Formats: sequence, C-alpha cells, structure tokens
Amino acid sequence: MVNRLLHFFKSNFMKIVSGIFFLTLLSITAWGQQSNAPAEVNYSNYFTAEKNFLVLPVKNGAPKRNIELWVDGVNTRFFDIELAEDTPDWLAYLDISQWKGKQVELRVDKIKQGSRVFNAVAQSDTDGDDSNLYKEKFRGQFHFSPKRGWTNDPNGMVYYNGEYHLFFQHNPYGRGWGNMTWGHAVSKDLLHWEEVGDALHPDQSGPMFSGGAVIDEKNTSGLGSPGKPAMVAFYTGARSWAQCLAWSTDGRTFQKLDKPVLPRINKDNRDPKVIWHEPSKQWVMVLYVERDKGQHSIQFLTSPNLKNWTKVSSVNGGIGGDGYLFECPEFFELKIEGSNEKKWILTGANSEYAIGTFDGKVFKPEIEKLKGQQGRDFYAAQTFSNEPKGRRIEIGWWRTNTDREGMNFNQSMSIPLELKLESRAQGLRLTRMPVKELEGLRDKTYSFGKMKLGKGSANPLASVDIELAEIRLEFAPGTAKDVALNVRGVPVVYNAEKQQLTIDGVTAPAPLIKGKQRWIIYADRTGLEVFAGDGLLFMPVNINIKPENRTLSLSASGGTAAISDIKVYALKSIWH
Ligand code: FRU
Repeated sequence: MVNRLLHFFKSNFMKIVSGIFFLTLLSITAWGQQSNAPAEVNYSNYFTAEKNFLVLPVKNGAPKRNIELWVDGVNTRFFDIELAEDTPDWLAYLDISQWKGKQVELRVDKIKQGSRVFNAVAQSDTDGDDSNLYKEKFRGQFHFSPKRGWTNDPNGMVYYNGEYHLFFQHNPYGRGWGNMTWGHAVSKDLLHWEEVGDALHPDQSGPMFSGGAVIDEKNTSGLGSPGKPAMVAFYTGARSWAQCLAWSTDGRTFQKLDKPVLPRINKDNRDPKVIWHEPSKQWVMVLYVERDKGQHSIQFLTSPNLKNWTKVSSVNGGIGGDGYLFECPEFFELKIEGSNEKKWILTGANSEYAIGTFDGKVFKPEIEKLKGQQGRDFYAAQTFSNEPKGRRIEIGWWRTNTDREGMNFNQSMSIPLELKLESRAQGLRLTRMPVKELEGLRDKTYSFGKMKLGKGSANPLASVDIELAEIRLEFAPGTAKDVALNVRGVPVVYNAEKQQLTIDGVTAPAPLIKGKQRWIIYADRTGLEVFAGDGLLFMPVNINIKPENRTLSLSASGGTAAISDIKVYALKSIWH
C-alpha cells in the first residue's frame, strides 16, 4: 500500500506540484476578489411615516433588490427595484400617507455593505416636482403613459361619477414589467388623464393581474348603498390564480373582498371581464382559461350578485402560438349600423374576434377569427363599461420603444377608439375610428384643395412644419402605382395594385371604397396610428419619430393620382 502510494507520488510529482500551485493561485484570486467586492448584506431601517411619499431612487439596469415595508407587524408592500445605490436615473414615490405617525420597517434584501442609500429615509409631501415630467424626450404627447414606471394592459375601464377611469398594469418602481399593481388615472374627456395613485397592490394572492370593472347600479352585491352604487373591479391574483373582487364607493379608495370570488379553474386562468346582461338580468363574466394541450378558451360564468359565479359555457380559441382568444377577453353587444339588429363580439388580447349570438349563457359564434387591428404591438385592449353616450370605446396597450436613456416611464396606451359593427363589402366587420374628442386637440390647421399628383409634382405639403399631427387625406389612386405620404420621416406607402398599405415593414390590406382611399393618421413621438377605409383598417405602428424631422411630403409614382382633400392639424399636448 505504502509502496503503491510512493509510486503514485513519484510518477505524478509534477502534476501534483502544479495542481497545488494552481489551487493556491485560485484561492488567492478568490480571496482578493472577495476583499475587493463589497459584501452584500440584509438591511433594515425603522422610520416614522411623516410625509405622503417614501422616495425610492432607481437606476435603470442596476441589480434588483427586494424591498419590504412592514407596518404594524404586517408585510404591507413588497416589490423588487433596480435600486440606485449611487446616482439615480429617477425617483419612484411610494404612498405612505395612510401610515402617518406610524413606525415603518424598511427591509432590503440585499444591499451593498456600507451603502448609504437609506441612511436617511427620504420622504416627500408631493410625488415629485420634476419640471421635466411629461416633457421627456420619448414621452407620447397625446397618449396616456404612466407618470413613472412601466405599464402594459389597460384594466377596469369604466365611467363613474362623471369621470372615465383607466386602471393599468403598473410597475411603480421600475420601467420593466413586474410588481404588477393596478395604477389608476381619471379623465373627464378621454384625453387628459390625471393619475390618482395606485389602486390595488400585490398581496398574498399574488401580483394584481388584469381584469375589468363595472358599476353595480342595482346594488346586487350589497357593496354600495342606495344612490351610491359601488364600482366593482375584478382581477386575477397571480399566485393563487383565483379571481378576486375589489370595490370603491368614492372612485379613489378600494377595498378587497377577503376571499376570492372564483377559485382557479384550470392551469392558467386570468383576466376576468364582467358585463351586465340586461335580458337575463344577471352579470356575465368572460375569463381566459388555458385547457389541456395549450388550448385557449374563454369561460363564460354568470352571477346574480358579482360574488357567486356559476360556470355556464365555454368557447375554444387557438392552440399554443395561435393567439386567437388568448388572454384578456372582451365581450360586448353592438347594433349593426343602419339596422336594428344586434350581435355579440368576443375578442382576445391580439384583437382577433368572433361575431355571434348570446342568450345569457351560450355564445354561438357565427363568424370566427376575424382580424382586428393590423399594426404592430397593439394588445390587450378593453372597452369602457357605462360609457355615458352609449358608445363602445376601446383603448389598447400600445407597446412603445420608450425604455431609452434615463427615461422614468415606459409603454403607453393607444388613443381612444370608437368601435362599430358595420355591414361592409367583406361582410360584417368591427370598425375602429378615433373618438370625436380628439378633435379638441387641434391647434393650427393646414388645408389643401384638390390636386393631381404624378411624376415631377412638387410636394404639396412643403409648407408644413409640425410635431404632433393629425392628417386627413382622401385620394383616388387613378393610374398611380404607389402613393406615398411621408410623415416626419416615416413613409406610409399605398400600393395600388395590391391595395395594401406598408409602414416600417408592416403591411395590411386597405381596399378601395368607391375607388378611393380615405386615411386618418395620428403622429406622436412614439409612432403612427393609421385608419383607412373608414375604420376597416386600424394600423398602429410603433416607431420613435426623430424630433428634428418636422416635415410632411406626398407623392405619387407610376401614374397620376387625384387628391380630393388634405387637412393637416398640429395637435396640442395633453400634458401641458
Ligand atoms: C397580457 C397579460 C395578461 C396578464 C397581464 C399581466 O398582456 O399577460 O394576461 O393579466 O398581462 O401583466
């Protein structure tokens, strides 16, 4: 045995020596690194809530830290944050006004040893007096975006006590998706939005995922009182995957029901949207449910009181990557324009939809899988309940390329759209047009008369100098092969042979109506929203427009086009 060991050492001497040398080197390096890199430690600090907001410094892209606020022994707020331990990019404001006078424990897991970020816990009476707010380089000027942090889906859209309420999937502490909270903004005119503080914060049921809201006019839930109906919101707790209820009687503060109204049905289920069904005098919920083998479906449920729900039917959508009827369902009835007939529309997040009938329990699709919007990155749209003029108004999440530079916010909503059901050459179709209210943003007007446009024509729009724009254009392509409207560097090109529109690589059908194209284009800093064929085509295309380009041009090639009308309006910002 000893001999064999000796032999081993002898024949492997050099390997052993170099091994020891290498290991020593490794441990010296590791030790060196350890001593250089500051250790990370758990951190806790107690402070007395004295002002309205706790100020949290954010550095976009910094390592994520987990923060908890313990109040009266309860973990009341918990979230992750790209905490700026040095110079922040921006400040997030967490409302602590309800705990004034109380001791709050701030826990951070982890923080750099010796970090002074919370040595003095910063509090503020206002949520910032940043004079650049809403003027940021990438901030859409007539699209809702959160004051700070990230947004995705619109939620709980409802009209209540003279205000439109727009809740939204919000990360109040970062410009990436996460910490899903219901943000809350209100507007009197669908254009000018004021944030009134986050409505629903993550709790033991999980982050607050998407859902809808209704006004319980008849107080079926007992949550309101005579003459003071409750606003009732539904959301998914994204840990329990149960559907939950929260309500408000003042449109500002919310209470959560202590237990879910609907336990998880199957796998992924989320995004409850509730409506009142007058003929059967009951509430109807549509809920996205993923069935086995990736089958998307919409579950229909009914309730007399918003609290007890009965499953009544379900409709299948696509499977897996086929996003037909996948997440964020919407369900509403519309009159067919020019008739007294009504039909029901069922849509999913990608806005593909079915048209059919509904008897209070079963939705029978008659036309399926029609294309909704045909642009880029418009998703998870919802419509307002209780719209005072009886219109069906939709707002979608319009993904924007706003996570740039030191921006303190990211993503936006689309402009509000009015939906109609119309009998067109193609059959029954849902149309989308900008809401009338948008006309209120018009400032300067440029009008141009009729003209012919062809090879060598001068640019009729050469006099325009514009940033935020609404453009209305009507033309007959005639013999022209292409008609191109260049909007501040973004070409909108109509191919006459294919009857198609192409914008920044996105192509969609734009059939002629009585030989004409009619376009409405809204241009904000974050891209174009294009309407053609009187709402048959809605094509939002997200692209950051260069601020220095303030020109428009119109041209036709391959023949002559007849322009019958052009109006260009410079628009005002909704923010200032
Ligand atoms: C759609 C969605 C919803 C979900 C929410 C979470 O964009 O995935 O299904 O509730 O976002 O933020």
